Amino acid sequence: IDGVGKSTHTSLLSKTLKKLGHKVIICREPGSTPIGEYSRILLTEEKLHQTTQLFLFMAARAELVHSIIIPELKEGKIIICDRFSPSTYVYQGRYFKESLIELLDLLSKGEQFKSLTPDLTILLEGSNIKANEFTDDDNQLISRYIEHYNSSLKRGENWVKIDAAQSINKVSKICLDSVLKIL
Ligand code: TMP
Repeated sequence: IDGVGKSTHTSLLSKTLKKLGHKVIICREPGSTPIGEYSRILLTEEKLHQTTQLFLFMAARAELVHSIIIPELKEGKIIICDRFSPSTYVYQGRYFKESLIELLDLLSKGEQFKSLTPDLTILLEGSNIKANEFTDDDNQLISRYIEHYNSSLKRGENWVKIDAAQSINKVSKICLDSVLKIL
């Protein structure tokens, strides 16, 4: 959910892991590649139909996966991605069937990605949140988003849910400990 400190914790986690000697790449969705960053601008500045939005998110993901994630993983780097597929289920799930999102998500990642699902997904849960900045969602939808994340959490195996209302130090320590457990 927007506004819980994802970018702060992404950057803190990356700094600490680097200090511990790991090679770390940070990326964000949509973003981190030219098409990803252009999509972010278009999504912010233009009033786009939800189908166009979905395709832009998927195009941004395809480029991120193929030009950054897969090559960098092959180099042995740790990838920390600020948002990924669960955000599509949650936000675009308002307009599209889960099966359709699943299909497009798979298509964007390609066959090769099947064996490369994230080792860990961290869900920062907080109340200091704002609505989706690209889709004019009103704040009432946020509880629906949280519900969606929680059901993904039940389905997925490698999820950690952290109460983001705790101090930055505490949240960053839990993030770090969760990652260190699987390294
Ligand atoms: P953020 O960079 O501040 O997290 O903003 C990204 C916005 O994009 C956020 O409102 C959620 C939205 N989003 C989707 O709607 N679908 C997606 O698949 C992704 C990755 C993000």
